[in-house]
Amino acid sequence: MLRRPRRNRASKVLRSMVRENFVTTDDLIYPMFVMDGENKKEEIKSLPGNFRFSQDRIIEEIGECIDLGLKSFMIFPAVEESLKDSHASYSYSPENFYLQIASELKSVFPSICLISDVAMDPYSSDGHDGIVEDGKILNDESLEILGKMSLAQAEAGFDLIGPSDMMDGRVQYIREILDRNGYTTTGIMSYTAKYASAFYGPFRDALNSAPKFGDKKSYQMDPSNQRDAMIEADLDTMEGADFLMVKPAVHYLDIIHLLKSNYPLPIAGYHVSGECAMLMAAIEKGYIDGEKAIPETLLSLKRAGCDVIITYLAKGYAKSLNH
Ligand code: PBG
Repeated sequence: MLRRPRRNRASKVLRSMVRENFVTTDDLIYPMFVMDGENKKEEIKSLPGNFRFSQDRIIEEIGECIDLGLKSFMIFPAVEESLKDSHASYSYSPENFYLQIASELKSVFPSICLISDVAMDPYSSDGHDGIVEDGKILNDESLEILGKMSLAQAEAGFDLIGPSDMMDGRVQYIREILDRNGYTTTGIMSYTAKYASAFYGPFRDALNSAPKFGDKKSYQMDPSNQRDAMIEADLDTMEGADFLMVKPAVHYLDIIHLLKSNYPLPIAGYHVSGECAMLMAAIEKGYIDGEKAIPETLLSLKRAGCDVIITYLAKGYAKSLNH
């Protein structure tokens, strides 16, 4: 045998010398939930170790995360039912606690990268990402609201705007509004290939944002499709996106690889709530060893082609790196 691949696996030193992929805190974005009020930190039952924080408590939490080496954070608002309406008008209201928390975070921690969520669902009495009329989700009419929301978020100080709604044409619509208002350096992390997935359950529990009727299949992508992701990536690239995201990530590694191989923009993978919850549940039950399974999961995303990984496990992983 001339070729013995085991030779390069023979010692720890050799293994580390030939290692191709690493996951460091530079690669991670930590998604977090925020709520109105003071001194609130409520655990999300279906996502153990993750919480809804009020402004004072998220400042404390992000401070801890920064000490662990994390630098990028994505925040989502848990909005009271009484503030929701059919047009998500609270999403761009000057009173909006989410926008206030963002400004405060950027003033306390100017060096972090703060990423927003643009979609109507946390603010919509219908629980959909766009305007609902006669049971249909309107596209072009929804853009106007997404545009207002994006501008309000840029004004609040978000570094990257994160449209997660899957309306057609929204990246260009948002890009133009930002530019017209002088926010030429505020970036767009587009949810490019976002699938109509069963793995968003814990997130919808966290925000109480599940659709009040029907499902999201007329705007989120069909899990059967690969080529549809190329159409979305072409459009987002032309429309001015700065990042292309694939969501969910672990069950869509082929899509991550496809976009990485075909587009020069950085690729983000969203390791979504249900995917993290599955892992945590198996770890809690003792069926698998979390200390090994978590790094292996994150590595699979890196190997598939993620430049950036959005994961609810970011803090735990950062802690394990510090040990
Ligand atoms: C809403 C949104 C969702 C997620 C991020 N933004 C849920 C949905 O589309 O219903 C899911 C994230 C997760 O499950 O971790 N626009």
